[in-house]
Amino acid sequence: MLILDTLERGHRDLVESVLKTELIVGDIGDRPLLDWLFQTYPVTAVMHFAAYIEVGESIHSPDRFYQNNVHGALTLLQAMVAAKIPYFIFSSTAAVYGVPPEIPISETCPCAPINPYGRSKWMVEQMVADMGTAYGLKSVIFRYFNAAGADPHSRLGEDHRPETHLIPLVLQAAMGRRPHIAIYGTDYPTPDGTCIRDYIHVVDLAQAHVRGLKYLLSGGNSQIFNLGNAQGFSVRQIIETAQRVTGCSIPVIEGDRRAGDPAILVANSDRARCLLGWQPQYPDIEQIIHHAWQWHQRRHRGNHIIMS
Ligand code: UFG
Repeated sequence: MLILDTLERGHRDLVESVLKTELIVGDIGDRPLLDWLFQTYPVTAVMHFAAYIEVGESIHSPDRFYQNNVHGALTLLQAMVAAKIPYFIFSSTAAVYGVPPEIPISETCPCAPINPYGRSKWMVEQMVADMGTAYGLKSVIFRYFNAAGADPHSRLGEDHRPETHLIPLVLQAAMGRRPHIAIYGTDYPTPDGTCIRDYIHVVDLAQAHVRGLKYLLSGGNSQIFNLGNAQGFSVRQIIETAQRVTGCSIPVIEGDRRAGDPAILVANSDRARCLLGWQPQYPDIEQIIHHAWQWHQRRHRGNHIIMS
């Protein structure tokens, strides 16, 4: 296995100490680098995790998202086709559905993203399909719902700088590294007025990728899969669960809605269960938050308070 990462948002220490895999520092938008890499290493399949992911940032800096997420992916796909690499696995997102017409959301729901992040992923999905038709590229596209949790042994976990995701922010507030957690909107059409999301453990996402690769290698056709637990939790429920798991009180303030947030995103992942035999190992939200809590305590021991 070989990792290509700019390290703009990744962490060298985690690749070197935990994954113990060869790391090439570079950009998927760098075509000469890709050509060299594909000529030098015997690559059979490429997994793409190299996109920017924050919805709010995508609204303020859409060009950066189209540059990295769309142009970067196109350059990678072109280099793969030139090098005759047959298999591609792409991390897409529930954000491609926008405000879905039905819950739970199945893969046949129309895609209508409501922010540049979701649009950038939807554009790449369409490029991948067209490259399949034109050049025979075989692909698996995974539409992640809300990735959460951490390695159960606390070797790997989330470390975004700055952090914008709900569970890490709630845990930072529990650790006293933030003064409070702000709830973005309490007037959504949901039972408690806060947004509902389907949180899926990162180990279960990783397992799906292994199964997706085996599926392609054994002759499976190009396919799109939702990855979620088919269970939604509101922002308030996440905060309450985190208080139970950590035993800490978490100060809350109620704020305005954040631009680009749909009210409810919950997956129907039956296709992944049927075609890949995928079965989430850690569907329990307490377990997901417990693993994240262990990771954050280990990673941030001794770090200073972050003022928000
Ligand atoms: N939220 C708060 N306060 C915060 C942070 C988040 O109330 O301080 C709320 C958000 O408004 C949202 C929910 O918590 O309703 C979850 O927010 P996250 O930022 O953790 O995650 P998102 O749902 O915005 O997005 C994530 C990924 C996307 C992916 C999406 C799919 O970042 O890449 O899940 O559901 F597309």
